[in-house]
Amino acid sequence: MSLKIESLNHQIVDGDNQRHLLENLSLSVSPGECVALMGESGSGKTTLLNLIAGLEPIQKGCIEVAGLSLSQSTDKQLSALRKKHIGIIFQSFNLLNSLSVQDNIEFSAKLSGRYDHEHGLALADELGLTSLLNKYPATLSGGEMQRVAIARALNARPYLLLADEPTGNLDENNSNHVVDQLVKLAKSNLDGYP
Ligand SMILES: Nc1ncnc2c1ncn2[C@@H]1O[C@H](COP(=O)(O)OP(=O)(O)OP(=O)(O)O)[C@@H](O)[C@H]1O
Ligand SMILES: [Mg+2]
Repeated sequence: MSLKIESLNHQIVDGDNQRHLLENLSLSVSPGECVALMGESGSGKTTLLNLIAGLEPIQKGCIEVAGLSLSQSTDKQLSALRKKHIGIIFQSFNLLNSLSVQDNIEFSAKLSGRYDHEHGLALADELGLTSLLNKYPATLSGGEMQRVAIARALNARPYLLLADEPTGNLDENNSNHVVDQLVKLAKSNLDGYP
């Protein structure tokens, strides 16, 4: 799925002042491509991902996801785009606390219409989550929560995956495994792009 960002500007209110967080940012990402954004804490990485996901209004400039201009889309169109095509691994995980690990992993896949029980179990196995499937998020460690959030996003097989510091809480072994999974997903999803 292609992503095109043109001359994006974003300001935030900082005390009594307005502060430019993103200035004239342009970026183009082609299907199958993986892009890593790096920047110091507070530089605007999470804000940019929220803008791409249509979770924050665009102030100036243009973001196009799969040919759809976000600033010209209705909330309903943005929510359909997220549900069906965009996967998000949030920096703070955003797991659903009332659902078990297994139900969390199945949640986005069901919304996207690409639910496959076996695929979910295989992902849980690859991410070392099999013994945790019946537990609830509140009883997990940070790294375990992060792996559940990753499994949930990957299980939906999104066309565009936005991962916010997806290995921030993981040890080296798990971290390498997750990066392999992310690259595998990027390469495997080339068929059937909208
Ligand atoms: N809704 C908001 N209103 C005002 N300021 C905000 C808002 N959201 C974020 N900020 C500020 O914008 C800046 C960028 O925040 P952001 O979370 O995008 O940074 P980041 O690059 O993801 O940082 P980190 O690496 O620590 O996760 C920070 O200074 C933050 O305090
Ligand atoms: Mg951040």
